[in-house]
Amino acid sequence: MAQSAIKRAWWKECSIYQIYPASFKDSNGDGIGDIPGIISKLDYIKALGIDIIWSCPIYKSPQVDMGYDISDYKDIYAPYGTVADVEELIKGCHDRGMKFLMDLVVNHTSDQHKWFQEAKSSKDSPYRDWYIWKKPKYDAEGKRQPPNNWGAMWGGSAWEYDEPSDEYYLHLFAPEQPDLNWEHTPVRDAVHDIVRFWLDKGVDGFRLDVINFISKVPELPDAPITRKDQVYQPGDKYFACGPRLHEYLLEIGSILKEYNAFSVGEMPCVQDPKEILKAVAFDRGELNMIFNFEIVDMDIGDEGKFSPRPWTMPILKRIVNKWQNFMIDNDGWNSLYLENHDQSRSVSRWGSDLPEFRTLAAKMFATFLALQSGTVFVYQGQEIGMINIPIERPVSEYKDLETLNAWKELLERHPDDKELQRITHQEIQLKSRDNARTPMQWDTSKYGGFSTAEPWQKENESYKDINAESQAGVKGSVFEYWASILRLRKAHKDIFIYGDFRLLDAEHQDVFAYTRTFEGKTAIIVTNFRKTPVEWTLPEKISLQETNVLVSNYGGISVVGGKASLRPFEAFASFAS
Ligand code: NOJ
Repeated sequence: MAQSAIKRAWWKECSIYQIYPASFKDSNGDGIGDIPGIISKLDYIKALGIDIIWSCPIYKSPQVDMGYDISDYKDIYAPYGTVADVEELIKGCHDRGMKFLMDLVVNHTSDQHKWFQEAKSSKDSPYRDWYIWKKPKYDAEGKRQPPNNWGAMWGGSAWEYDEPSDEYYLHLFAPEQPDLNWEHTPVRDAVHDIVRFWLDKGVDGFRLDVINFISKVPELPDAPITRKDQVYQPGDKYFACGPRLHEYLLEIGSILKEYNAFSVGEMPCVQDPKEILKAVAFDRGELNMIFNFEIVDMDIGDEGKFSPRPWTMPILKRIVNKWQNFMIDNDGWNSLYLENHDQSRSVSRWGSDLPEFRTLAAKMFATFLALQSGTVFVYQGQEIGMINIPIERPVSEYKDLETLNAWKELLERHPDDKELQRITHQEIQLKSRDNARTPMQWDTSKYGGFSTAEPWQKENESYKDINAESQAGVKGSVFEYWASILRLRKAHKDIFIYGDFRLLDAEHQDVFAYTRTFEGKTAIIVTNFRKTPVEWTLPEKISLQETNVLVSNYGGISVVGGKASLRPFEAFASFAS
């Protein structure tokens, strides 16, 4: 795009830090993180160069899905604190020039929410239509079946039978997370009321959970059969980016606009940027940006999250190139992330967590990610290079619903297939959500300084080597490297935030390199994704000088005669001439 036409915005220039409240910092010794714990670490987050903090859900919840099952949107889960604590947290952020985002989970509620309790109590309840109810189907043998063949995200049917009313209700996630019926106007009014409630308390915006699932094709048709050996099928064709999605988003967007608030929507099951652009194009008035899933899904096999799939650098490059150029060319915007509470640790998943490589790999991923075009998201622990749970930990010690359901289903279906069980355990260790949910590693004291009591989720034993105390303010650490990258984005906004993106060497198997350019000034970013040295030839038009290097994870580069000798996981960014 012509660079004079670029639309600048404060939210494009921000760096965001994501907190998983249960695992961030426990202030009262009950083994569960809490809001006062977060408040006690605001200076730490600020020192990283963060502008916005987003916390995963902290509302009242029975915690079937770690707070993504909300039973009261205007109250706080008691072990985390109170509404007054949230107000103090907001103030603590604002006092330091940071903003605070809540997680808005409104595709579904908890089955303990009073709306659902009412809805379930009788077919005549005024709340009945707040959820999605359907009559059973009967098969050839006269056996009762769910209304359609959709599978829930974590196994089984997406429908739960309610005997007293002889109807099923829809739940795309766990049965304890019934889907709201957004077609029903009072539901949308209630959501708008929640949005205003928190904005009025000073919250600066929201991350919107699975927000592209809120509009379903009203007929709720059977899904095409794509998993041949399974009864229930992925139904996303009929609920991801459904017919009224943009109408609903616009309603929310207009409230957010009144408050000049931030928004990022989570949007799984869509890979077409044209579809996403409808929600994030600058002038649409819907959302600022969304999380797409293409990178984090690239190593997921056909049989679901814990089936393997090899990924290659050309695949990763095609994904990045597609989203970068499409959004720059079409006035949209990207979010940039590799980790969050649903993904494992990038160092272990796509790099190497061997002690000799993990610091380099963590810095390499920071360089690869944060100098692209988009708003950067750093997930707690990523800034110190935290790694996955060790393979020795048995699945029985994992806590996450998604992992435990998948494992249970596997053992039921393949009780004697030890090889498949071994592979699946390996994939769980590589990709399970538990990897991101181990306690934040603050120092070398017991439980990594997270709590004085045994944590709700066992700590990762690596805390003795990987912890914040040994990194914050310490030259050469992953923390300080991340801080320097975030500073770099701000120091050269034209290039790193608003500049064009060009992928280099699309087919190279080991090196990810790209340029960012603004009005004739170019920066080149070069990263080696391998634990072996790699020789890489620079594009003919680009020459590099040591004095132009902006950041380097080895503290210097080796480029002679247009050839870069890259050391294991080496990464650098430099102005190019
Ligand atoms: C996406 C959230 O990130 C995940 O943690 C949650 O389990 C599902 N949505 C359901 O709310």
